[in-house]
Amino acid sequence: MSANADPTPTSPPLDAAPARPSSRPAGLDEPRILREALCLDDFEELARRRLPRPIFGYVAGAAERNSSLRDNASAFAEYGFVPRTLVDVSRRSQSITLFGTRYARPFGIAPMGINALSAYRGDIVLAAGAAEADMPSIMSGSSLIPLEDVARHAPGTWFQAYLPGDVTRIDPLIDRVAQAGYRTLVLTVDIPVMANRENNLRTGFSTPLRPSLRLAWDGVSHPRWLCGTFLRTLARHGMPHFENSFASRGAPILSARVMRDFTARDHLNWEHVARIRRRWQGHLVLKGILHPVDAARAREQGVDGVIVSNHGGRQLDGAVSPLRVLPAIVEAAGGLAVMMDGGVRRGTDVLKALALGARCVFVGRPFNYAMAVAGGAGVRHAVRLLGDEVDRGMAMLGVNTLDELDAGFLAPMGAGSRAT
Ligand code: GLV
Repeated sequence: MSANADPTPTSPPLDAAPARPSSRPAGLDEPRILREALCLDDFEELARRRLPRPIFGYVAGAAERNSSLRDNASAFAEYGFVPRTLVDVSRRSQSITLFGTRYARPFGIAPMGINALSAYRGDIVLAAGAAEADMPSIMSGSSLIPLEDVARHAPGTWFQAYLPGDVTRIDPLIDRVAQAGYRTLVLTVDIPVMANRENNLRTGFSTPLRPSLRLAWDGVSHPRWLCGTFLRTLARHGMPHFENSFASRGAPILSARVMRDFTARDHLNWEHVARIRRRWQGHLVLKGILHPVDAARAREQGVDGVIVSNHGGRQLDGAVSPLRVLPAIVEAAGGLAVMMDGGVRRGTDVLKALALGARCVFVGRPFNYAMAVAGGAGVRHAVRLLGDEVDRGMAMLGVNTLDELDAGFLAPMGAGSRAT
């Protein structure tokens, strides 16, 4: 659709334009540290100071040479905008509709493992923050808080599962997720084996964490994290365990010997997707699709949506950036809800992905850092920053609604034009 809507007959007088949030520094009621965060990228350095090295490294890191991680971000710089001018953009709305639900934002929070080590009750902080902002969020199955607790705090949250190709473990988890009231199940399909994450070995990170003098030092040298997140969790909830990998409780987060069960992930295949489709009554989304043929197959199997993703560069290093394959996947997906994640840090990134056909984008690490820095206030601040950027971008592109965006608003641009 074109942005060339006739602005005159129904547009309100200029002074009646709806009030909009503005990107001002954090208010007086917010933690002072948030004044240092003027854009999503700023949270990373703030979180690095707050979190013990292995935990920050786990969140920030990717796989092998970090090629996909880097390209996820730089792919956006290869598109420039071709804005429309003299359009009355005073009725801007960035709302979207996904699976019959209207959201106030075209971005959501991506699933991230062990969020509860970045902030006290991290999965709940993120899910509740997203619910408050009226945007989608996805709880990771690799998490330390029972999925039922998250659903109680934020009932619209989506659940993401890592499933083995083993029906005796698939069925009970799916039933548990349904029983807890989740309506959208996201199956991650890009993890048949564990990735080669050398950064984790270098920082001493593993799941479970192995007790050591070095780990103890990492903890005590970050007293705010130690008291505010780890000891507080231990005191109030006991030792965190992987609660949602299967229907029953898994390994503790800290143990000298216990191993997590990653068996049979390499057995997972399309037949399991067909079985899950039959058993799961809600919306089913596949996350980690990069090939148009897989998107078409997902549609044939009755899947409702796909998230084009290379797992934030954390799985197959060198896997293509989602933005680069997005248009081909949108074309192949024929009506499926196509979403994406990977490298989205600016409102302009959101708008580029939407112009290429994404219905929604997901953002991961910056929200983890934001809650590590300031809990729920950090999440609110991050949402406001990104939302304001989207709003500003829409105005300068000359659109009132996101449906108006299409590839005609984009043109090639020299790589290397990306700055923070
Ligand atoms: C979990 O999803 C991870 O990428 O570490």
